[in-house]
Amino acid sequence: MVQGSANLNTKLTEEWLQNYVDDWVKFFGRYTNEGEVASYIPILQEANKSHLGISIIGNEGMMIQSGNIDVPFTIQSISKVFTFIVACMERGVSYVLSRVDVEPTGEAFNSIMHLEMKKIKKPFNPFVNAGAITVTSLLNGKTSDEKLEPLFRLFEKILGARPRLNKKVYESENETSVRNRAIGYYLVELGYLESELELALDTYFKQCSIEISLSDLARLGVILANDGEDPKTGIEIIPKQVARLAKSLMLTCGMYDASGKFAAYVGIPAKSGVSGGIIAVAPPRIRQENLPFLNGCGIAVYGPALDEQGNSVAGIRLLRHIAKQWDLSIF
Ligand code: DON
Repeated sequence: MVQGSANLNTKLTEEWLQNYVDDWVKFFGRYTNEGEVASYIPILQEANKSHLGISIIGNEGMMIQSGNIDVPFTIQSISKVFTFIVACMERGVSYVLSRVDVEPTGEAFNSIMHLEMKKIKKPFNPFVNAGAITVTSLLNGKTSDEKLEPLFRLFEKILGARPRLNKKVYESENETSVRNRAIGYYLVELGYLESELELALDTYFKQCSIEISLSDLARLGVILANDGEDPKTGIEIIPKQVARLAKSLMLTCGMYDASGKFAAYVGIPAKSGVSGGIIAVAPPRIRQENLPFLNGCGIAVYGPALDEQGNSVAGIRLLRHIAKQWDLSIF
């Protein structure tokens, strides 16, 4: 049985929190059996489906980590949050939102249905593949490396080091991604792209192949949880309006056709990736005084066993439990 929430009459020490999170990761690890690792990008099949890890970093810097915390993974669709942020910083929010909407689709992340069924004026949101490839086409630059340089600089500013691009994952997707090329041709036909299709796709495959550690992903979450500001320095890394817009999209669209359930049962902005990563952000909140991370935290989960929506099965269950125990919900 999972231990209940900490005895709220007891001051929550780091040791207490670590013991609870260790227990919860052990307990929810069993749910990895209910998912499968991604296979449509061949190299992603090499992941270990039994892995589950979590990293939680508070705005004051306290870090709790447990499980498989040393397994690097590619951020995949988590990258869409940050290319959207970079596009807004480069081209302005109004312009970007004139090219992509902010509405959930209720469909799979790689659905083309809305592109064909409804002659919509722009993709529904920047997190479905159609919207993400459109946003990537808006990034400044004549090559994929030029387009992604500001993204890598943003990561380096937050993390203190430049994450690497996993070339094998990039090549594996570039060589096999028929669905994204189909989506791309629809986008060309509808006039949504501002770059040549192959340039937009090459950039998109590279952003999805950026490799990260759990603790670094949690650090990215801390900046978003803090409305774009580094809580350590008070320096604004991402404009507040852009950070808040990104979080609203994470809440409504970040888990695709499971976004509604995630908002209802977990209640914090999150974005999943098909490698099994989830970034979740808990903004500062006013709650019972001895609950942990009251000033906000970034949470990163890694669990490559995915459900039908392409989200980490055990990761979602673990996040749901922690959100309940620590009253993280923004509602
Ligand atoms: O475009 C794709 O299919 C992948 N590079 C990313 C999809 C993804 O991460 C969906 N999220 N769960």
